[in-house]
Amino acid sequence: MTSLKVSFHSVGSSIYPACIVPAAVSKNVMRKQRHWEKIVAAKKSKRRQEKERRKAKHCQDANAGNDHQQHSKKFLKAITKERLLEAKDSGPRLCIDLSMTDHMSKKELSRLAAQIRRLYGSNKKAAKPFWLYLTGFVQNSPLYDECVRMNDGFVNYLVEFTEDSFLDLFPLETIIYLTPDSENVLEDIDPTKIYIVGGLVDESVQKKVTYQKAKGNNLQTARLPIQEYMIKKDNVKNYHSEILAINNVFDILCTYCETRSWPEALRAGVSPGKGFVLPDEIIPEN
Ligand SMILES: C[S@@+](CC[C@H](N)C(=O)[O-])C[C@H]1O[C@@H](n2cnc3c(N)ncnc32)[C@H](O)[C@@H]1O
Repeated sequence: MTSLKVSFHSVGSSIYPACIVPAAVSKNVMRKQRHWEKIVAAKKSKRRQEKERRKAKHCQDANAGNDHQQHSKKFLKAITKERLLEAKDSGPRLCIDLSMTDHMSKKELSRLAAQIRRLYGSNKKAAKPFWLYLTGFVQNSPLYDECVRMNDGFVNYLVEFTEDSFLDLFPLETIIYLTPDSENVLEDIDPTKIYIVGGLVDESVQKKVTYQKAKGNNLQTARLPIQEYMIKKDNVKNYHSEILAINNVFDILCTYCETRSWPEALRAGVSPGKGFVLPDEIIPEN
């Protein structure tokens, strides 16, 4: 039996047995061939167009997404503003007494400016914000310049800035000066009172500054209930301090307003470095 070997030639995209050389291809086959080539070209072009359309839609969706994001950013900003302004009428009030910055070093001023930024940031995020006052705050003073330099949008903060003393702004009987040296414990936050924190950083610890200022003006004072809810934790340096930075004091007050729980509030503002822990944070030794 002889085997028949057939080799193939291609014409266009079609393949013909070699015995059928292109010259011999009938007109009918050629017509079909051209028709087929048109279909293939049309399909290719349709695929290209489809790809372009998908690409354009993707771009459009991405832009729409950005618009939406922009929208929600604006929306969130508006809500925050509304909540802060609501606090002006009905919220608890806190004042940072910035009248004691004269002898502060540049480094201390920078730290205070950063603490004010954190405090304001916490207030913006708070479910129940405070209405904030920055009193004894002199425009173009070294602290003012440092705040403007370090804190984006500082001059637009939604707070009350004033050069006046808090002593001239509020009835004295409504003032409670928060000071770690007070003999009174802060038990609750009263929206009819105005709570003052001292704009001091304890780089060069000046003991009892705010306590003496408050006593000198016959003001009520209170300290945070750290000793009441926390216990001293052994540490190498045997270091235990109840003196907190103003932003940590503020985080405690804010969390208390939200949760009405002092343990939760203290957890939010007293770092382990202070040498105090909550009883539930003690890990039993084996
Ligand atoms: C870094 S402390 C300055 C302490 C400073 N030796 C003084 O005489 O107030 C900054 C401010 O946070 C507030 N503060 C810090 N720890 C506090 C605490 N345990 N209880 C109440 N207020 C506190 C006080 O208003 C204080 O003036």
